[in-house]
Amino acid sequence: MASLVPVADPADPRLADYTRLRDVNLRKSLEAEHGLFIAEGEKVIRRALGGGHPARSFLMARRWVEPLADALAGTDAPVYVADDAVVEAVAGFPVHRGALASLARLPLPDVASVVAGARRVLVLEDLVDHANVGAIFRCAAALGVDAVVLSPRCADPLYRRSVKVSMGAVFAVPYARMASWRDGLALLRGAGFTLLALTPDAAAVPLDRAPSGERVALLLGTEGDGLTSHWLAEADAPVRIPMDPGALAGGVDSLNVVAAAAIACYALVTGS
Ligand SMILES: C[S@@+](CC[C@H](N)C(=O)[O-])C[C@H]1O[C@@H](n2cnc3c(N)ncnc32)[C@H](O)[C@@H]1O
Repeated sequence: MASLVPVADPADPRLADYTRLRDVNLRKSLEAEHGLFIAEGEKVIRRALGGGHPARSFLMARRWVEPLADALAGTDAPVYVADDAVVEAVAGFPVHRGALASLARLPLPDVASVVAGARRVLVLEDLVDHANVGAIFRCAAALGVDAVVLSPRCADPLYRRSVKVSMGAVFAVPYARMASWRDGLALLRGAGFTLLALTPDAAAVPLDRAPSGERVALLLGTEGDGLTSHWLAEADAPVRIPMDPGALAGGVDSLNVVAAAAIACYALVTGS
């Protein structure tokens, strides 16, 4: 059973895991150094624990202890209990969902083992926005995608904002990070995947006429520039979600990458 530890000083070194949660650079180095990530909110904390991530500690206002009592009973990690003002001073913002947990990262499997039994895969090239990564995992979980593969530089699914936006789907959908951006797609092709490059390019094949296959990987590009020419060339076909003919004139040249992922996953899964 976890022990309750009252804390009142935001500078208490035992709270270091929770320092300045919105400071992306600080968080990246701190989390990498200690192999940790932060889960926020009762549901997400439960899903992280359910995903097998050992807890390092918890930080919460007293009112959250009771709702989480059964989850806390299963761990020896300390539960730091503090006033909202103390939690806010450590985290750097008011933590509306009340409870935070610091959890240990697990070693990621390699790409070959993550896609071994998969039929439908999403492949994300260099997405930078953690909220987009989280939302795509949520789509993947909701729409029956079997696995997600990340390019080497793609944003971290275990960054706090990704975890939160995914509502814990990052613990449900298996994923792996490619070792090499240049050769990463060759591995998927070798495993028998048809590679469909999603692009708003008007010359691409409309989604409802995209080639099908036993195993399909949908490639999604970075928020600014989209897929690189290397990945577009490596794909079996460029595929577009047709947009309104007047959209470009109105200054809309593409969909948000999450919207594109949701539409394409739905079409892939339903065959429509
Ligand atoms: C914001 S868009 C990038 C826009 C970029 N200017 C381009 O030409 O790809 C991010 C990603 O969303 C996907 N996407 C956006 N709109 C799409 C559409 N109409 N059809 C297919 N994929 C789309 C693509 O994978 C794209 O790389």
